[in-house]
Amino acid sequence: MDPRPHSPRPIAFAPPFIDEAAIQAVERVLRSGWITTGPETAAFEEELAAFCGVPKVVCGGSWTGLAGVILDWFGVGPGDEVILPSYTYCATANVVLHRGAEPVLVDLPDPENEDGFNLIWAAIEPHLTPRTKVVMPVDVGGWPVALNGWKDRLTTWAREHGFEASHPNQERLGRPLLLLDAAHSLGATLGGHPVAPQSDIAIYSFHAVKNLTTAEGGAAALALPPSFEADEVHRALRTLCLHGQSKDAAAKFNSSGRAAWRYDVTTAGFKCNMTDIQAALGRSALERYPSDLEWRHALCDRYDAGFTGWEAAILPRRTDAGRRGADHLYLLRLPLLDEAGRDALIDRLAAERVATNVHFQPLPLLTVHAERGERIEDHPNAHRAYACEISLPVHMHLTLDDVDRVVAAVRRGHDAILNDVSAS
Ligand SMILES: Cc1ncc(COP(=O)(O)O)c(C=O)c1O
Repeated sequence: MDPRPHSPRPIAFAPPFIDEAAIQAVERVLRSGWITTGPETAAFEEELAAFCGVPKVVCGGSWTGLAGVILDWFGVGPGDEVILPSYTYCATANVVLHRGAEPVLVDLPDPENEDGFNLIWAAIEPHLTPRTKVVMPVDVGGWPVALNGWKDRLTTWAREHGFEASHPNQERLGRPLLLLDAAHSLGATLGGHPVAPQSDIAIYSFHAVKNLTTAEGGAAALALPPSFEADEVHRALRTLCLHGQSKDAAAKFNSSGRAAWRYDVTTAGFKCNMTDIQAALGRSALERYPSDLEWRHALCDRYDAGFTGWEAAILPRRTDAGRRGADHLYLLRLPLLDEAGRDALIDRLAAERVATNVHFQPLPLLTVHAERGERIEDHPNAHRAYACEISLPVHMHLTLDDVDRVVAAVRRGHDAILNDVSAS
């Protein structure tokens, strides 16, 4: 029993929402006799492809597993450069480091023309070189990068400045791959349409805290130009997700005799396939996802209403003339607070039983990048954004009253901290 009978109920940051339908879907698969990659994963891939507006989707064990496999498929390795924001989760850069390639970290744009916590084309272009093999922008918090036309711009840039292709897939594309880190942004739209077709490949995460979860998992939406055959790329990526084996378990099961067991391995792949248990969770979540998104929008609208007109706050970007975010995170900035003040606010909120978070520590603040020679001084906009950022709860268990409670606690805590500072 709660020893504090008068304390308000705790507000968690991002607990998963597992309803009865999800439990039944998993139970159905558990009872079916087929639990690893099979018919459920294939069905989930087709449903996701329709939802994302692309011909094919590959599901995998995580965003990270899929991103690694895709970088390998594109032949990214030592000597290659991959452009990505410094304002992101460690995974975006880790997959590049795993390949021995060079992550080229880009600071957030000048605050005057910033796009929330996202990169814009003008920030990326100066970092392009003939050795840039991949450009990997991130839809931070679910707000989609304005990707319209980027594929054409990359083609033009490569034609004018060169592109040092060192792999058959690089030769076929003839320019850097536009690989969108869409870990947060399933359901975000550009001009009323899904974002994925504006990229070459968009990768979603279905980790436990994400808008749609399979506990762990991810999906890559394939939107490559017609010089790539979607079925062929799908097959290649699926194979790379399973050791590079020419046959998966379902293919073996569905044949007999020597045709059942014999396989080849043409390249040393990974082991990051999605199981049918995960896919069952995902299919059930995808079915209710449009209404989940509506609720997330309603919660964030309520935050907006609670903070609008408060001069101390910079509200997150959530819509504009062409875009609609997926409201994965509510990234509030309180620029009157310094980093210590922001952390004090997080402690105060915790004492009021409200869990919050910070997204993200810019990569140069992490030891692995500092030891590579990255300096936070070279990323002043990311550093400033991070120091005063606090992520507020957004999830399916949250009520509008909870949001009002969080808003009141944030405003009260913020002002108390400023008063403490001015009194000392
Ligand atoms: C921006 C971003 N990219 C990539 C990932 C990695 O996703 P996963 O945990 O599915 O590998 C995350 C996970 O939180 C993320 O926030």
